Amino acid sequence: MQIEREKIIAAIGGAKSVEAMDDEARAEAVEVYLMKELDEGPAAKAPTVADLENEIETRTFRRGVGSLFAVGGLSPFGERLPGEPETVRRLPSLPAKPTLLDYFELRFAPARHALQSADRALTQNMDEEVVLACLLHDLGQTLIKTDHGWWGAQLLRPYVSERVAFAIQYHQALRFFPDPSVGYEYPEQYNFIFGRDYAPPPYIRAAYEHCRKHKWYMSARLITINDLYSFDPDCVVDLNKFTDIIGWHFKQPPEGLGFDDSPSAHMWRAISTPDTPL
Ligand SMILES: [Fe+2]
Ligand SMILES: [Fe+2]
Repeated sequence: MQIEREKIIAAIGGAKSVEAMDDEARAEAVEVYLMKELDEGPAAKAPTVADLENEIETRTFRRGVGSLFAVGGLSPFGERLPGEPETVRRLPSLPAKPTLLDYFELRFAPARHALQSADRALTQNMDEEVVLACLLHDLGQTLIKTDHGWWGAQLLRPYVSERVAFAIQYHQALRFFPDPSVGYEYPEQYNFIFGRDYAPPPYIRAAYEHCRKHKWYMSARLITINDLYSFDPDCVVDLNKFTDIIGWHFKQPPEGLGFDDSPSAHMWRAISTPDTPL
């Protein structure tokens, strides 16, 4: 999508404030800007699927790249804003036996979207497993955005209940399908991310239909409801709010995430050391 850079910078507070933001704050500010634009104008401003396809060869990386792996990788639009560093940053080392909290502090921070989603679940008195699922629902995106629901569920399945893994896996497909009974509508922002004439492919529809009939449908649906309202770049939520829930519902391996020989240990190592060349 051709984003009008100068207009966006002015709209999100000018060049100085854009420079002061970290990468994630910038990406979120752009999303908020686009949602505001949508409120003010018709969705017809959104590109078509063909427009987005035509942009593929203008990019230096693909839009499905994991957020840790490229400048601009945090944004679903694959856009680097002026003021954003031109190169990736050197990452701090993790402790020898890293915990989920270590990963949050040293790899996922500031994780505003995750924290805001989980905080919303907490304040709406949703159960602890749903709060945890909201906190973890997009972690797959650090590795790869394409099919992040499935990647995230695979990453987390050894450490959470099957219901939490189910909710994380299916939230991705559910995002495309409204459920008026709980006030969930198709996200207008998806017209920009996927194209205004986008139709989800058959495997996404099949996943939705499977989930719709499943006893844990509402667990996955609650993630999508909290998802919708969790893109405020100014929202700061303290990770410590969730320490107890993580302690009760996340099976932290004593060897550390990445070193416990679980089926997803290699995925944690990739997040831990994304600069390893092979
Ligand atoms: Fe997601
Ligand atoms: Fe999300």
